[in-house]
Amino acid sequence: MITVKKARLCYVLLGILLGCSCSDVSRDEAAEMDRFVTELMGKMTLHEKLGQLNLPSGGDMVTGTVMNGELSDMIRKQEIGGFFNVKGVRRINALQRLAVEESRLKIPLLVGADVIHGYETIFPIPLALSCSWDTLAIERMARISAIEASADGINWTFSPMVDICRDARWGRIAEGSGEDPYLGSLMARAYVRGYQGNSLQGNDEILACVKHFALYGASESGRDYNTVDMSRLRMYNEYLAPYKAAVDAGVGSVMSSFNIIDGIPATANKWLLTDLLRDEWSFGGLLVTDYNSIAEMASHGIAPLKEASVRALKAGTDMDMVSCGFLNTLEESLKEGKIMEDQINTACRRVLEAKYKLGLFSNPYKYGDTLRVKEQLYTAEHRSAARAIASETFVLLKNENHLLPLGLKGKIALVGPMADARNNMCGMWSMACTASRHGTLLEGIRSAAGDKAEILYAKGSNVYEDAEMEKAAAGIRPLEHEDNRKLLDEALRVASRADVIVAALGECAEMSGESASRTNLEIPDAQQNLLKALLKTGKPVVLLLFTGRPLVLNWEDANVHSILNVWFGGSETGDAVADVLFGKVTPSGKLTTTFPRSVGQLPLFYNHLNTGRPDPDNRVFNRYASNYLDESNEPLYPFGFGLSYTDFVYGDLQISSETLPKNGELTASVTVTNKGNYDGYETVQLYLRDIYAEVARPVKELKGFERIFLKSGESCDVKFVITEDDLKFYNSELHYIYEPGEFEIMIGTNSRDVKTKCFIAK
Ligand code: NOJ
Repeated sequence: MITVKKARLCYVLLGILLGCSCSDVSRDEAAEMDRFVTELMGKMTLHEKLGQLNLPSGGDMVTGTVMNGELSDMIRKQEIGGFFNVKGVRRINALQRLAVEESRLKIPLLVGADVIHGYETIFPIPLALSCSWDTLAIERMARISAIEASADGINWTFSPMVDICRDARWGRIAEGSGEDPYLGSLMARAYVRGYQGNSLQGNDEILACVKHFALYGASESGRDYNTVDMSRLRMYNEYLAPYKAAVDAGVGSVMSSFNIIDGIPATANKWLLTDLLRDEWSFGGLLVTDYNSIAEMASHGIAPLKEASVRALKAGTDMDMVSCGFLNTLEESLKEGKIMEDQINTACRRVLEAKYKLGLFSNPYKYGDTLRVKEQLYTAEHRSAARAIASETFVLLKNENHLLPLGLKGKIALVGPMADARNNMCGMWSMACTASRHGTLLEGIRSAAGDKAEILYAKGSNVYEDAEMEKAAAGIRPLEHEDNRKLLDEALRVASRADVIVAALGECAEMSGESASRTNLEIPDAQQNLLKALLKTGKPVVLLLFTGRPLVLNWEDANVHSILNVWFGGSETGDAVADVLFGKVTPSGKLTTTFPRSVGQLPLFYNHLNTGRPDPDNRVFNRYASNYLDESNEPLYPFGFGLSYTDFVYGDLQISSETLPKNGELTASVTVTNKGNYDGYETVQLYLRDIYAEVARPVKELKGFERIFLKSGESCDVKFVITEDDLKFYNSELHYIYEPGEFEIMIGTNSRDVKTKCFIAK
């Protein structure tokens, strides 16, 4: 084992004793790390250095068309710097042992994994999490994920994914925090804080990796891995903020994206990886590619593996995920003078520094305590946090005549292919969860109902009518395809005995996530047929919607009595849904992604620019206005939208002054009253609009929000302080400035229903 001279704690104590400031202490630490890494690199051969840049997949979860082989030999020869997606602390320890006991320099390994929304305790998918607007809950989710993942041997998570997405066709919209850069930035920080803790020194604090840098969510036509082409102005004003927020929060690593930017794959885009990330944003951590993306530069039409590896290294990449291009080709490229040894050294240093910061040189088995698995995975405490957070993420889209919450009485028919689908509760990226350990929706609802209400059940339909279509949709979580007719008949028999029907329908888990783009965003055909048949019974119907993305729900909105969007709520979905369904918890989720009326409207987002011919009406077709012949411009459910069981009433918007003086501030406030019969949370949202500017500015932009809890009958004054910083944007020279002039201030319960006032900024 390699010994590190001084532990961080000693430095901190020394710093306190000597009365040094924190930055002095961290300068000392940096110097010590530098000395350590320099000494180590002095002993390394070129081949060993290239080994550090190599990140093969362990193979438990494969997300590309290529696979890496057996790792043991490569570890002994020091040909890898780490590996990812291997489950189980004992297996991981065995591989780590090879590195620290059987390789020449005994350099420990990074152990990565896609811990995206929990580990064995699974939380809602990230898009759902963002709908809680609860950054503390998200930080807690990330903390618990880090505790569990680290107990199972993992020291590096490929999360948070912060790609802004405005196109619901893209399946990976499920993995991010929606369409808004301000909210996305707050979420990004919360994830990083949760994973990395205070210092990365604890054995339950792991390296975070912000991804996919950059703009991956803007792929053309929502098709995964597709081209991105975007102006710098749009990048800076609308897409880059969440990545930057993660960097500012101290994220230890960044993953580049698959897409091209300005014609060059992000993997080898020097402007992106060096000029912007390193130089402008001062990112000093580890930069890793996405899966096999150096090799994929051949298909992009850029270069075959050898040349692509040169370009990726020169652009600023440190670690090559899966392609093995760095390991196998850079030595020759160096001999040919295509790269310099310094470039390899810089990348190697960054990999070693990441290991140093994690404390792996002091203790390579820091994450290898096998006793932790029993004590810290899927604990009652973690599960209860997951249950509470899940119930915050559900969004009530419609609730005619206060059908919800349901009374605990009579007969309730739970119908639909998502009702008893154990494998489908968690959503994509839940590699570590053991489905047999968590309940289904049916079990959660039955347990909440006890002997007070009778819960009848029927599957009702397949996901799709067509078995082949269903197989493709189900992906790695195969579903049993049964006779559609029989299922429907049985469902109608069950429904006929019930007082109320709860239909659990929508996407199955793998219909969103990576490589799950769709062009039709309606509820799949077999389930629509089921829903229509259930409504024909004339009984009240609640749609519990499972989905990883916005769906087109025009028909459902017009015909179903209540719609509760539960996304994929994680391992505790069953209990969490029951909590909301029966009113133990009042729903409070608000959409962070716009629900369109039609796929033809996509991309659709609230913070858009106006055209020179904005649509004056939005309901009827207006010739020569910017609109469609056959659909309004409006979404079905706007950004920020979400109902409650209770009624929040907003008073008049007050502003402290009609002028915002230079270097001064202005207060905007509103009184919110809970006039309904339930206690509950409301998220009060603040938007601003710059009326005239050098470059066109969005019709509104989220600039603040408050999540308040009001008991029935209670009121609360919500105040927002506005300063010049809230008015700033990147101008055509990419200077971050504000322009004095007229602004609109809007406060409301969602991005559409707002109260407005104007002020002048000096
Ligand atoms: C490909 C995905 O794009 C990325 O998000 C993930 O972290 C890697 N595969 C590793 O599994």
